[in-house]
Amino acid sequence: MTDTATVQGETTEFPIPSGVFAEKVISVKHYTDRLFKFRMTRPTSFRFRSGEFVMIGLPNAERPVFRAYSIASPAWDEELEFYSIKVEDGPLTEHLQKIEPGDTVLMRKKPVGTLVHDALLGGERLYLFSTGTGIAPFASVIRDPETYERFEKVVLIHTCRDAAELDYGRELVAATKDDPLVGEEATAQLVHYASTTRENSDRMGRITTLIENGQIFEELGVPPLNPETDRAMICGSMAMLKDVKQILEETGFIEGSNSKPGQFVVERAFVD
Ligand code: A2P
Repeated sequence: MTDTATVQGETTEFPIPSGVFAEKVISVKHYTDRLFKFRMTRPTSFRFRSGEFVMIGLPNAERPVFRAYSIASPAWDEELEFYSIKVEDGPLTEHLQKIEPGDTVLMRKKPVGTLVHDALLGGERLYLFSTGTGIAPFASVIRDPETYERFEKVVLIHTCRDAAELDYGRELVAATKDDPLVGEEATAQLVHYASTTRENSDRMGRITTLIENGQIFEELGVPPLNPETDRAMICGSMAMLKDVKQILEETGFIEGSNSKPGQFVVERAFVD
């Protein structure tokens, strides 16, 4: 398909590559100088499972740069939401952070990922461990009715450096509890457990520390992690994934995949 596209208010001369969707930005919200979210149109033929990611790019070059982005909206939503970090010299995010409503965003057609219900066995409690923009796939998972059908309690854990970086999660959880589709279930079953590591807030400390010293279980009023009853999804930096995964494996949790569901699943928050 050959077309011209508007990027950051300017018409580019670059054709839209074949095999990708070209979608329109609907809204953009900046949370901090490091973080923003945007919503865009969803192609009618595009199907995905809550928790999956896609490759996103901009029509600003003959061969656009694509990066993996978790879809932050649930599978039933008519629009697509993404939550992104801004990297000063990031080949994609240095441009993506400047998008405005009406601009074009490119999306490759195939969604993939392991932070999906198909890769997890059923259980009583679902722990969603995230740091930074690693919360994005869980923004999808906590808005999916299947999550509340499969688990009695869903704990969304989010650790960031500063308090302002927790705003997206706070807003998300409030909107989810108010949502006509899953609001009632989320109000009864979803717990938001947030902490900061570099700025004073109501709860301080890395999630790894809060697991190891037992603070999280004490505050939630639940027993410590147990592979018989608990399931987990992890999304964050490489270092965070490694450390949380190690804690789970030492406790006896077995990693799952799409072909062999298990007790926990892992995915990296890609753009950093
Ligand atoms: P810290 O401030 O102690 O490094 P980032 O913005 O660098 O991706 O970090 C997001 C959050 O993840 C920060 O609060 C950071 O804590 C925390 N973090 C970084 N590495 C780990 C790790 N290995 N285990 C747990 N949390 C981590």
